[in-house]
Amino acid sequence: MLWNKSLETGIESVDKRNIDIFTQLDDLANIRHEQRKVLQMLDNLEEFVKKNFSMEENLHEALDFPDAYLHKSHHKKYIVTLHRFRARYLENGATLANVIDFEKNVIEMLKHHIACYDMHFAMYYRSRVTSSRLWTPLFAETGR
Ligand SMILES: [Fe+2]
Repeated sequence: MLWNKSLETGIESVDKRNIDIFTQLDDLANIRHEQRKVLQMLDNLEEFVKKNFSMEENLHEALDFPDAYLHKSHHKKYIVTLHRFRARYLENGATLANVIDFEKNVIEMLKHHIACYDMHFAMYYRSRVTSSRLWTPLFAETGR
């Protein structure tokens, strides 16, 4: 599986949804489907990712997460990456370039997002729950 313990944030609802996304990515990466099926899987993945990001953003808002805007902008970038991949796949199919694009951008970008952005939020989440002082904003001088 593409997901591993190093991507665990410790926030159960976030981790469960992230694992579900990686399960869908596994299906896309490991199985050679006909193009119509792949496009349907990509559409389902995008829908699920959007719901997941929305749930995360609601949690950010509920906890007054100071870096919510930055985090949300990365969510948007990932959706754009999925759209671009879908368009290239629709045009060219399962070319070597598209397989590499899928691995380098669709999968690795999500891993990067979880490892950096979701983990950063998880530290904030824990600081709110436990009053820990370990968390600091990414950009302390934002003027917010
Ligand atoms: Fe996120």
